[in-house]
Amino acid sequence: MPPLKQPPVIVAIFGATGDLTKRKLVPALYNLFVDSELPKGFKIIGIGRRGDLDAFRSEMLENMAKFSRRGKPEDAKWTEFAARLEYITGDFEAPETYAKLKAIIDAAETAWKEPASRVYYLSVPPAVFGTISDQLGQTGLSADTHRDRVVVEKPFGRDLESSEVLNSQLLKSFAENQIYRIDHYLGKETVQNILALRFANALFEPIWNRRYVDHVQITVAEDVGVEKRGGYYETSGALRDMVQNHLLQLMCLVALEPLARFEAEGLRNRKVDVLRAVRDLSGSDRHSYSIRGQYGPGLSEGQLVKGYRQEEAVNPRSGTETYVAMKLHIDNWRWQDVPFYLRTGKRLPRKFSQVVVQFRDVPHQMFPSGSSDNFEANRLILNLQPEEGIVLRFQAKEPGSGMRLRGVAMDFNYEEQFHAESREAYETLLQEVIEGDTTLFMRADQEKAAWEIVDPVLHNWAENSATSFPNYAAGTWGPEVADLLLAKDGRSWYNPMPKYV
Ligand code: BG6
Repeated sequence: MPPLKQPPVIVAIFGATGDLTKRKLVPALYNLFVDSELPKGFKIIGIGRRGDLDAFRSEMLENMAKFSRRGKPEDAKWTEFAARLEYITGDFEAPETYAKLKAIIDAAETAWKEPASRVYYLSVPPAVFGTISDQLGQTGLSADTHRDRVVVEKPFGRDLESSEVLNSQLLKSFAENQIYRIDHYLGKETVQNILALRFANALFEPIWNRRYVDHVQITVAEDVGVEKRGGYYETSGALRDMVQNHLLQLMCLVALEPLARFEAEGLRNRKVDVLRAVRDLSGSDRHSYSIRGQYGPGLSEGQLVKGYRQEEAVNPRSGTETYVAMKLHIDNWRWQDVPFYLRTGKRLPRKFSQVVVQFRDVPHQMFPSGSSDNFEANRLILNLQPEEGIVLRFQAKEPGSGMRLRGVAMDFNYEEQFHAESREAYETLLQEVIEGDTTLFMRADQEKAAWEIVDPVLHNWAENSATSFPNYAAGTWGPEVADLLLAKDGRSWYNPMPKYV
């Protein structure tokens, strides 16, 4: 529940006709409204170059059935919610757009008899961030450092240099504490639960280090291809789209040091510590630590699907990677010599996100080698999506005479335990912005440190084009070289069975 007396809020969405607004933002705001998580006074203002209020309302409603976790909204509830929607048709460069926005805000605040928090959500390409934030500044809409907030979507730049430029553009009108850089993985319940698992239990933390952990694997696999986003993806690729943000953030949560108190700045400091400790990937011997791949035609769920180069808006000779695997080292006392293997890809056999913490073997094996067909290492598996839960795999004695050993699983499943499905990441993130809590958002120095890790790889790949693309068939686990990355270390990727561990 929100605090009892929450100030009213205005959420202004720039890029209201874009996909994100109908797929994620409006369904999330509606669900917060249904759950009584929004303040009593709220307004949502769509801002776009085309359309009007009626079109905005009906487009949002049409898409709710498809994209809201609750499906089609109840008529009465939707009518109540839709009455809070407003729309401004205008160019992002034009001062009149902002004058109209200011007029709506002023009228609402007069009606509420108190100032509102204003959330400006930039659901637009980064090239427009500067224009919008300058205009907001010039209209006086960013001046209140407590109430005015700007939310920016990823990608935050396309490399270290451009992200710094974006940052300085935003900082002309907003202070750092007013800027909410989104990484939607941080809003996922299971991702946040990594911290609960590690620091609310006495059991795991003592063994969460180089003495006991052999290595960590972080996988974010998707079964879909690039879908309708070929145009964007061609300028991005998997390293920028997934690794610089989602995967590195997951790694931070697995690797960070405990805090004295759970609070935003402390947590963000700990994450920056992890990112800064990542061993530099420049240097010729390290280039082999980052593997790229691109899918060719293949089978996905039994259907023949196109290769990446045949997708809409993709260059038929594209060198863009749709798969990345990396081996990273975190140079600190806790993690020295413990490799973190990260991988992500499109058109893999199934959608799943997972962290596997694999523990070292027992120091001495007292059971004869014949007592097990396969001595499986102890693994703690954090299933982030679509399955949500934690599995501990360990050895047990098989029933019967003799000492036969087999790997078994202890299984915790969120839905069974809490009898509730997890809410959408965007619900959590929007609620946090509305309440002014920056814990789950990326601070400028985090962005910078994450770009510093991937920048040498980006440069190396830009200088050496991929001659072997496509190098994996759709529906397979990525290129062979990614298996070799682990095989060289005597390890292998932990791939789930068709229907899970
Ligand atoms: C986005 C990427 O950030 O995350 C997409 O731009 C990707 O390419 C998506 O498909 C995956 O998110 P999720 O929540 O479905 O795992």
